[in-house]
Amino acid sequence: MCGIIGYIGQKQTTPILIDGLKKLEYRGYDSAGICVLDKGSLKVIKKKGKIAELDSELKEHNLSGTIGIAHTRWATHGEPNEKNAHPHLDCSGQIAIVHNGIIENHHGLRQLLVKEGHSIVSDTDSEIVAHLIEKFYNGDLAKATVQALQLIDGAYGLAVMCQAEKKIIVARRGSPLIIGIGDKEMFVASDVPAILAHTKKIIYLSDDELAIITEDNYTIKNLEGKKIDKEIHEIKWSVAELEKKGFKHFMLKEIFEQPEAIANTLRGRINDKEIKLSINFDITKIKRIVITACGTSWHSALIGKYLLEDLALMPTEVDYASEFRYRNPILGPDDLMIVISQSGETADTLAALREAKGKGAKTLGIVNVVGSTITREVDSGIYLHVGPEIGVASTKAFSSQVVALLLLAFYIRQEKGLAIDKKIIKELNNLPEKIKEALSQAEAVKVIAEKFKSSKNFLYLGRGINFPVALEGALKLKEISYIHAEGYPAAEIKHGPIALIDANMPVVFLATKNNLSPKIISNMAEVKARSGIIIAVVNEPDKEIKKLADYIIEVSITSPELSPVVNVIPLQLLAYYIADMKGLDVDKPRNLAKSVTVE
Ligand code: AGP
Repeated sequence: MCGIIGYIGQKQTTPILIDGLKKLEYRGYDSAGICVLDKGSLKVIKKKGKIAELDSELKEHNLSGTIGIAHTRWATHGEPNEKNAHPHLDCSGQIAIVHNGIIENHHGLRQLLVKEGHSIVSDTDSEIVAHLIEKFYNGDLAKATVQALQLIDGAYGLAVMCQAEKKIIVARRGSPLIIGIGDKEMFVASDVPAILAHTKKIIYLSDDELAIITEDNYTIKNLEGKKIDKEIHEIKWSVAELEKKGFKHFMLKEIFEQPEAIANTLRGRINDKEIKLSINFDITKIKRIVITACGTSWHSALIGKYLLEDLALMPTEVDYASEFRYRNPILGPDDLMIVISQSGETADTLAALREAKGKGAKTLGIVNVVGSTITREVDSGIYLHVGPEIGVASTKAFSSQVVALLLLAFYIRQEKGLAIDKKIIKELNNLPEKIKEALSQAEAVKVIAEKFKSSKNFLYLGRGINFPVALEGALKLKEISYIHAEGYPAAEIKHGPIALIDANMPVVFLATKNNLSPKIISNMAEVKARSGIIIAVVNEPDKEIKKLADYIIEVSITSPELSPVVNVIPLQLLAYYIADMKGLDVDKPRNLAKSVTVE
């Protein structure tokens, strides 16, 4: 989720680029940089940290030029630091690129380029694009860029400039890129907010299209060189609306981003032959797994227990990180500690990790933020690649964590030489579509939210792999609507909580089809017999459920192992709509922080 902006025209480019980067900070940043054609040569200034730090650094350099590109980085490969920040230069220092996306075959291309004498200075996948273009450059930047792109697998939003040509080349596959049309000036960007202050005339590049941009003209072609006419759109939104892509809150945007987020988590890690995870120890030697995390990440850890024991036949324990770190856990070199953390900075989780390392256990992190503290201390890791999660209430990170745990369970099976169910693999690849179907129930969920927004208490009930989903649904509601809610294993209510049931108690059941369905239906009957109000999340609503449930939210049929990722969607939406209807600050709920870096 990096940010890109470029300018070519008659004005000084540096202030335009810096202002544009500031408009893109919401996309997440850990470093930023700028390249300007200054008195005939490319000048690159890069800085770790906030855009403001790059801005003050630039004051030392007094760049002057009317062509430039700039980038705010959300790291996917390589630590957030100056060396890995964009723009990246080729060996000659005469070609500069900024890139958003993931180049899946960057290892092979890096080896090829190094063998040909290129010295690649960063740890990123992106830098190899600059060297590939250099490899083919022979006085025509556009042509060399196309030749480079034809070798690349993966996603890119790319802007390229070179010392010898007064133009910017942009190309796109999988990561958005737009062209802004001005009066004797042109803009390029990854997102409209970066350039909306200068123009409302926008062209959206499509996949496998490339544009050659000069200060007063642009030409758009496909990768075969055929010219393409594109519609010019007039933007109606304000910048504020645009940062959230028209969604009222970041949380809602991130709920609806989940199909794309899950596709990014899966990207390059699964095909019909194998699961590809870069785990740098022999996981078949592990005798037991302990997973520690906090909050929502602890809920995905609980789901991981079901998946790892059921699919990978691996004994698995789950512990709150805050509890694990203070008891005397028995752990050794045959054990694997998995820590799950969206931010990679949660103090309790980090402390639990260090405790496990101190006892000689292998460690693995399932983390979203690249280069965060936890990622630097584990032996191996699985990045979520879902982009920045701005809303305090975690949504896309949760569903991605569950998918990462499923990939890990299949990976362990594969390494143990056990067969992998092709049906589930096919469904895993189709999961983004299933999530989209669940999201299409948003209006039905909104009706239920309207009905129960003033309730004082909720119960969420699930069984098996959906018990942790019940916990997650309850946490979502609690943390953004401030309504008390409790998640429980459905069978457990007869051991106490059923005393709470009355006509004012909405009870949300996770009732999608699985081997425990008859049991869930009898739990529903127990609630109904005490006048409880039943909201059921189902995928094959049988007549029993239809008789018992007061409200039904239908999601798509999927393998039980994947059901948590689909079933959680209506629960996220229910919490969001209730909180929004109560006029609460959904993205920044009271008393909460996005990352709890203190005990
Ligand atoms: C989730 O909605 C909460 N914001 C919170 O429980 C969060 O999951 C927890 O603080 C752990 O954060 P982490 O995943 O960044 O470690």
